[in-house]
Amino acid sequence: MFDSGVGGLTVLKALRERMPCEEILYLGDTARLPYGTKSAHTVTRYALQATVKLVERGVKMLVIACNTASSVAVDAVRRANPGLPVIGVVRPGAQAACRASKSGVIAVVATEGTIAGGAYHRAIHALRPEALILGRATPLFVALAEEGWVEGEITEGVAARYLMPIFDPPSGSDRPSVPDTLVLGCTHFPLLAGAIRNVIGPDVAIVDSAATAADAIQAELRDSGQTNGRDGCGGTLFLTTDDASKFARTGTMFLGTPIAEQDVELVDL
Ligand code: DGL
Repeated sequence: MFDSGVGGLTVLKALRERMPCEEILYLGDTARLPYGTKSAHTVTRYALQATVKLVERGVKMLVIACNTASSVAVDAVRRANPGLPVIGVVRPGAQAACRASKSGVIAVVATEGTIAGGAYHRAIHALRPEALILGRATPLFVALAEEGWVEGEITEGVAARYLMPIFDPPSGSDRPSVPDTLVLGCTHFPLLAGAIRNVIGPDVAIVDSAATAADAIQAELRDSGQTNGRDGCGGTLFLTTDDASKFARTGTMFLGTPIAEQDVELVDL
Protein backbone atom coordinates (compact mmCIF):
# COMPACT_ATOMS: atom_id res chain seq x y z
CA MET A 1 0.00 0.00 0.00
CA PHE A 2 1.11 3.54 -0.48
CA ASP A 3 0.31 6.99 0.78
CA SER A 4 1.84 10.43 0.52
CA GLY A 5 3.37 9.88 3.95
CA VAL A 6 2.49 8.36 7.30
CA GLY A 7 -1.27 9.02 7.17
CA GLY A 8 -1.98 5.76 5.33
CA LEU A 9 -0.74 3.93 8.41
CA THR A 10 -4.29 4.40 9.75
CA VAL A 11 -5.35 2.04 6.94
CA LEU A 12 -2.50 -0.34 7.75
CA LYS A 13 -3.50 -0.32 11.42
CA ALA A 14 -7.12 -1.12 10.58
CA LEU A 15 -6.01 -3.86 8.19
CA ARG A 16 -3.62 -5.40 10.75
CA GLU A 17 -6.49 -5.65 13.25
CA ARG A 18 -8.47 -7.64 10.69
CA MET A 19 -5.70 -9.58 8.95
CA PRO A 20 -2.67 -10.16 11.21
CA CYS A 21 -1.07 -12.74 8.88
CA GLU A 22 -0.66 -10.65 5.73
CA GLU A 23 2.80 -9.49 4.65
CA ILE A 24 2.50 -5.75 4.10
CA LEU A 25 4.78 -3.47 2.15
CA TYR A 26 4.00 0.17 2.94
CA LEU A 27 5.42 3.06 0.94
CA GLY A 28 5.15 6.60 2.30
CA ASP A 29 6.22 9.24 -0.21
CA THR A 30 7.28 11.65 2.54
CA ALA A 31 9.71 13.54 0.29
CA ARG A 32 6.80 14.83 -1.80
CA LEU A 33 4.14 15.19 0.91
CA PRO A 34 1.55 16.69 0.91
CA TYR A 35 -0.45 15.39 -2.04
CA GLY A 36 -3.60 17.17 -0.87
CA THR A 37 -2.55 20.58 -2.16
CA LYS A 38 -1.16 19.40 -5.51
CA SER A 39 -2.81 19.10 -8.92
CA ALA A 40 -4.50 15.89 -10.06
CA HIS A 41 -1.88 15.56 -12.80
CA THR A 42 1.01 15.67 -10.32
CA VAL A 43 -0.62 13.33 -7.81
CA THR A 44 -1.35 10.82 -10.60
CA ARG A 45 2.30 10.92 -11.70
CA TYR A 46 3.46 10.35 -8.12
CA ALA A 47 0.95 7.53 -7.62
CA LEU A 48 2.13 5.73 -10.77
CA GLN A 49 5.76 6.00 -9.64
CA ALA A 50 4.92 4.64 -6.18
CA THR A 51 3.04 1.79 -7.81
CA VAL A 52 6.04 0.78 -9.94
CA LYS A 53 8.19 0.56 -6.80
CA LEU A 54 5.71 -1.76 -5.07
CA VAL A 55 4.90 -3.91 -8.09
CA GLU A 56 8.57 -4.59 -8.79
CA ARG A 57 8.80 -6.22 -5.35
CA GLY A 58 5.95 -8.60 -6.23
CA VAL A 59 2.62 -7.77 -4.60
CA LYS A 60 -0.73 -9.58 -4.90
CA MET A 61 -2.77 -6.43 -4.35
CA LEU A 62 -2.26 -2.68 -4.44
CA VAL A 63 -3.95 -0.43 -1.91
CA ILE A 64 -4.02 3.30 -2.49
CA ALA A 65 -4.16 4.28 1.18
CA CYS A 66 -4.30 8.00 0.40
CA ASN A 67 -7.65 9.66 -0.18
CA THR A 68 -6.22 12.31 -2.48
CA ALA A 69 -4.46 9.74 -4.68
CA SER A 70 -7.53 7.47 -4.59
CA SER A 71 -9.66 10.40 -5.70
CA VAL A 72 -7.65 11.29 -8.76
CA ALA A 73 -5.41 8.35 -9.69
CA VAL A 74 -7.23 5.06 -9.13
CA ASP A 75 -8.19 4.62 -12.80
CA ALA A 76 -4.67 5.41 -14.03
CA VAL A 77 -3.16 2.96 -11.53
CA ARG A 78 -5.62 0.24 -12.63
CA ARG A 79 -4.86 0.84 -16.31
CA ALA A 80 -1.13 0.62 -15.63
CA ASN A 81 -1.50 -2.67 -13.74
CA PRO A 82 -3.97 -4.89 -15.61
CA GLY A 83 -4.82 -8.04 -13.69
CA LEU A 84 -3.68 -6.68 -10.32
CA PRO A 85 -6.46 -5.85 -7.85
CA VAL A 86 -6.28 -2.15 -6.95
CA ILE A 87 -8.28 -0.85 -3.97
CA GLY A 88 -8.70 2.84 -3.22
CA VAL A 89 -10.18 4.29 -0.07
CA VAL A 90 -12.90 6.44 -1.64
CA ARG A 91 -15.42 3.87 -2.83
CA PRO A 92 -15.57 1.88 0.45
CA GLY A 93 -16.02 5.16 2.36
CA ALA A 94 -18.81 6.25 0.03
CA GLN A 95 -20.55 2.88 0.39
CA ALA A 96 -20.36 3.09 4.20
CA ALA A 97 -21.71 6.65 4.15
CA CYS A 98 -24.69 5.60 2.03
CA ARG A 99 -25.41 2.76 4.43
CA ALA A 100 -25.10 5.01 7.51
CA SER A 101 -27.16 7.96 6.31
CA LYS A 102 -30.90 7.89 6.87
CA SER A 103 -31.62 11.39 5.60
CA GLY A 104 -29.34 11.25 2.55
CA VAL A 105 -27.57 14.43 3.64
CA ILE A 106 -23.87 13.58 3.89
CA ALA A 107 -20.88 15.77 4.74
CA VAL A 108 -17.38 14.96 3.51
CA VAL A 109 -14.21 16.49 4.96
CA ALA A 110 -10.97 15.94 3.07
CA THR A 111 -7.97 17.69 1.53
CA GLU A 112 -8.38 20.40 -1.09
CA GLY A 113 -7.39 17.95 -3.83
CA THR A 114 -9.94 15.34 -2.79
CA ILE A 115 -12.77 17.86 -2.54
CA ALA A 116 -11.82 19.56 -5.82
CA GLY A 117 -11.62 16.20 -7.63
CA GLY A 118 -15.20 15.38 -6.61
CA ALA A 119 -14.57 11.64 -6.28
CA TYR A 120 -16.63 11.25 -3.08
CA HIS A 121 -19.51 13.13 -4.70
CA ARG A 122 -19.43 10.83 -7.73
CA ALA A 123 -19.09 7.65 -5.67
CA ILE A 124 -21.94 8.60 -3.32
CA HIS A 125 -24.20 9.76 -6.16
CA ALA A 126 -23.58 6.52 -8.03
CA LEU A 127 -25.20 4.72 -5.09
CA ARG A 128 -27.70 7.37 -3.95
CA PRO A 129 -28.42 9.80 -6.77
CA GLU A 130 -30.72 11.87 -4.54
CA ALA A 131 -28.10 12.40 -1.81
CA LEU A 132 -27.16 15.94 -0.83
CA ILE A 133 -23.41 16.08 -0.30
CA LEU A 134 -21.68 18.91 1.51
CA GLY A 135 -17.93 18.81 0.91
CA ARG A 136 -15.44 20.85 2.88
CA ALA A 137 -11.67 21.03 2.51
CA THR A 138 -10.11 21.00 5.99
CA PRO A 139 -6.35 21.24 5.39
CA LEU A 140 -5.49 22.30 8.95
CA PHE A 141 -6.66 18.89 10.19
CA VAL A 142 -3.68 17.33 8.39
CA ALA A 143 -1.21 19.64 10.17
CA LEU A 144 -2.89 19.10 13.56
CA ALA A 145 -2.71 15.31 13.21
CA GLU A 146 0.95 15.39 12.18
CA GLU A 147 1.74 17.68 15.09
CA GLY A 148 0.04 15.22 17.43
CA TRP A 149 -2.53 17.83 18.46
CA VAL A 150 -5.41 15.41 18.23
CA GLU A 151 -7.51 16.75 21.10
CA GLY A 152 -7.97 19.85 23.22
CA GLU A 153 -9.14 23.38 22.87
CA ILE A 154 -7.20 24.36 19.76
CA THR A 155 -8.13 21.25 17.78
CA GLU A 156 -11.79 21.51 18.77
CA GLY A 157 -11.70 25.21 17.90
CA VAL A 158 -10.43 24.45 14.40
CA ALA A 159 -12.99 21.66 14.03
CA ALA A 160 -15.77 23.99 15.13
CA ARG A 161 -14.69 26.67 12.65
CA TYR A 162 -14.77 24.16 9.79
CA LEU A 163 -17.81 22.14 10.81
CA MET A 164 -20.29 24.37 12.61
CA PRO A 165 -21.39 26.18 9.42
CA ILE A 166 -22.40 22.73 8.12
CA PHE A 167 -23.75 21.10 11.27
CA ASP A 168 -25.23 24.15 13.01
CA PRO A 169 -25.99 26.69 10.28
CA PRO A 170 -27.61 29.99 11.23
CA SER A 171 -31.37 29.68 11.53
CA GLY A 172 -33.54 31.31 8.90
CA SER A 173 -35.76 30.44 6.00
CA ASP A 174 -32.86 29.35 3.80
CA ARG A 175 -31.32 27.18 6.53
CA PRO A 176 -29.66 24.35 4.62
CA SER A 177 -30.20 20.68 5.43
CA VAL A 178 -28.02 19.37 8.22
CA PRO A 179 -26.08 16.14 7.53
CA ASP A 180 -26.65 13.03 9.63
CA THR A 181 -23.35 11.49 8.43
CA LEU A 182 -19.77 12.76 8.21
CA VAL A 183 -17.14 11.04 6.08
CA LEU A 184 -13.56 11.45 7.32
CA GLY A 185 -12.16 11.47 3.78
CA CYS A 186 -8.48 11.77 4.63
CA THR A 187 -5.97 9.36 6.12
CA HIS A 188 -5.13 11.72 8.98
CA PHE A 189 -8.62 12.44 10.23
CA PRO A 190 -9.33 9.25 12.21
CA LEU A 191 -6.80 10.59 14.75
CA LEU A 192 -9.04 13.60 15.28
CA ALA A 193 -12.29 11.62 15.52
CA GLY A 194 -12.68 12.31 19.25
CA ALA A 195 -12.30 16.07 18.87
CA ILE A 196 -14.63 16.08 15.84
CA ARG A 197 -17.19 14.04 17.79
CA ASN A 198 -17.09 16.57 20.64
CA VAL A 199 -17.91 19.31 18.15
CA ILE A 200 -20.65 17.66 16.07
CA GLY A 201 -22.30 15.75 18.92
CA PRO A 202 -23.29 12.13 19.42
CA ASP A 203 -26.02 11.82 16.78
CA VAL A 204 -24.00 12.19 13.61
CA ALA A 205 -22.60 8.95 12.13
CA ILE A 206 -18.87 9.25 11.53
CA VAL A 207 -17.47 7.17 8.65
CA ASP A 208 -13.77 6.43 9.01
CA SER A 209 -12.42 5.81 5.50
CA ALA A 210 -9.43 3.86 6.89
CA ALA A 211 -11.67 1.29 8.60
CA THR A 212 -14.01 0.96 5.62
CA ALA A 213 -11.03 0.52 3.26
CA ALA A 214 -9.64 -2.23 5.50
CA ASP A 215 -13.02 -4.02 5.36
CA ALA A 216 -12.96 -3.80 1.55
CA ILE A 217 -9.39 -5.15 1.35
CA GLN A 218 -10.29 -8.05 3.62
CA ALA A 219 -13.40 -8.88 1.58
CA GLU A 220 -11.50 -8.73 -1.72
CA LEU A 221 -8.69 -10.99 -0.48
CA ARG A 222 -11.17 -13.49 0.94
CA ASP A 223 -13.40 -13.51 -2.15
CA SER A 224 -10.42 -14.08 -4.44
CA GLY A 225 -9.01 -16.81 -2.15
CA GLN A 226 -5.79 -14.86 -1.66
CA THR A 227 -5.60 -14.52 2.11
CA ASN A 228 -2.40 -15.61 3.77
CA GLY A 229 -3.41 -18.82 5.54
CA ARG A 230 -0.30 -19.50 7.56
CA ASP A 231 -0.18 -19.13 11.35
CA GLY A 232 1.61 -16.33 13.15
CA CYS A 233 2.05 -12.69 12.41
CA GLY A 234 2.79 -11.26 9.00
CA GLY A 235 5.65 -8.77 8.75
CA THR A 236 5.58 -5.17 7.64
CA LEU A 237 8.32 -3.49 5.66
CA PHE A 238 8.21 0.28 5.40
CA LEU A 239 9.61 2.22 2.46
CA THR A 240 10.00 5.97 2.59
CA THR A 241 11.33 8.57 0.17
CA ASP A 242 12.74 10.79 2.93
CA ASP A 243 14.36 10.55 6.38
CA ALA A 244 13.78 7.03 7.78
CA SER A 245 14.08 8.08 11.43
CA LYS A 246 11.45 10.77 11.01
CA PHE A 247 9.17 8.25 9.30
CA ALA A 248 9.62 5.86 12.23
CA ARG A 249 8.92 8.62 14.76
CA THR A 250 5.82 10.17 13.17
CA GLY A 251 4.61 6.84 11.84
CA THR A 252 4.56 5.36 15.34
CA MET A 253 1.92 7.93 16.29
CA PHE A 254 -0.32 7.02 13.35
CA LEU A 255 0.18 3.27 13.66
CA GLY A 256 -0.25 3.22 17.42
CA THR A 257 2.61 0.69 17.79
CA PRO A 258 6.34 1.38 17.60
CA ILE A 259 8.05 1.37 14.20
CA ALA A 260 11.73 0.41 14.42
CA GLU A 261 14.02 2.50 12.26
CA GLN A 262 15.70 -0.63 10.91
CA ASP A 263 12.34 -1.69 9.41
CA VAL A 264 12.24 1.51 7.33
CA GLU A 265 14.05 1.52 4.00
CA LEU A 266 14.89 4.68 2.11
CA VAL A 267 13.91 4.48 -1.59
CA ASP A 268 14.02 6.78 -4.56
CA LEU A 269 11.06 6.96 -6.92
N1 DGL B 1 -2.81 11.22 2.64
C1 DGL B 1 -3.51 12.42 2.27
C2 DGL B 1 -4.99 12.08 2.06
O1 DGL B 1 -5.51 11.13 2.59
C3 DGL B 1 -3.37 13.50 3.32
C4 DGL B 1 -1.99 14.11 3.40
C5 DGL B 1 -1.56 14.80 2.12
O2 DGL B 1 -2.13 15.85 1.77
O3 DGL B 1 -0.69 14.27 1.48
O4 DGL B 1 -5.66 12.79 1.35
